[in-house]
Amino acid sequence: MSGETPAGGTYSFLTEETSVDAVLARLENCQDERLAEVMTSVIRHLHAVIKEVEPTQQEWALAIDFLTKTGQKCDDKRQEWILMSDTLGVSMLVDAINHRRPSGATENTVLGPFHVEGAPVHALGGNISKDGKGTPCFVSGRVLDSDGNAIPGAKLDVWQSNADGFYDVQQPGIQPAMNLRGIFRADDEGRYWFRTQKPQFYPVPTDGPVGKLLMAMGRHPFRPAHLHYIVSAEGCETVTTHIFVRDDPYLHSDAVFGVKESLIRDFDMVDDPDRAAEIGLPNPFAEVAFDVVLARV
Ligand code: BEZ
Ligand code: FE
Repeated sequence: MSGETPAGGTYSFLTEETSVDAVLARLENCQDERLAEVMTSVIRHLHAVIKEVEPTQQEWALAIDFLTKTGQKCDDKRQEWILMSDTLGVSMLVDAINHRRPSGATENTVLGPFHVEGAPVHALGGNISKDGKGTPCFVSGRVLDSDGNAIPGAKLDVWQSNADGFYDVQQPGIQPAMNLRGIFRADDEGRYWFRTQKPQFYPVPTDGPVGKLLMAMGRHPFRPAHLHYIVSAEGCETVTTHIFVRDDPYLHSDAVFGVKESLIRDFDMVDDPDRAAEIGLPNPFAEVAFDVVLARV
């Protein structure tokens, strides 16, 4: 059954066959063009999923319960919706669409929930490890533009989890505040270097509905070991990225799909007491080099 609406559009009563058109017709008074475009796509795809899956009433109630619990798990510290987006690969897809860069520029990856503003500013060479755990590690590299020119004064905001697989903000009172976080400025030749501990793989939070869903899907919750960076400089596109440890067991099955080939690096073990003393780390230590290439805007 179909007919004309008061606004002059057409309507149909909702049946299995007409469900998409019946709902889309109700967008006729939507003044926001982008919203209408987005909702049209959402309605089409949502109805296609339901027609493909044909959920029972009980299964649909379960889905609603999952969505309800996902919302209820969120507060000012915990964002279960983002975790769902991350673990379904949607965060990385949105990130890829919004950061199409010229080839050679450092690729983006997920920001994650553990970045905090106001990390301590360190001089080059500073040690961001306040708990002294794990394998000592020396990180160095340069910040360059796509033509290979140094970017003096580029800002590097770095953070990572500790050797037990937790960020400081997950363990207040257990880890020192601002453990494994720091802000550095590249020198006149775009060089940077700092001391830390070798990152370790760790699980995304599993104590909520998204963790339960991962388990039910037969997936593990681990992220391969990585060191987070946000690198910014005047006149350049900011890059939010990680370095990944090449020999990590979860490199090919990151729970949030964040790994990119170009971001994987060797963390070589160095056994050289003189160099360790010069750098100010115990011997032996791990070493990694990572250049960051920013696209000019
Ligand atoms: C992280 O790397 O910090 C992270 C990213 C996505 C979800 C959870 C953690
Ligand atoms: Fe992380």
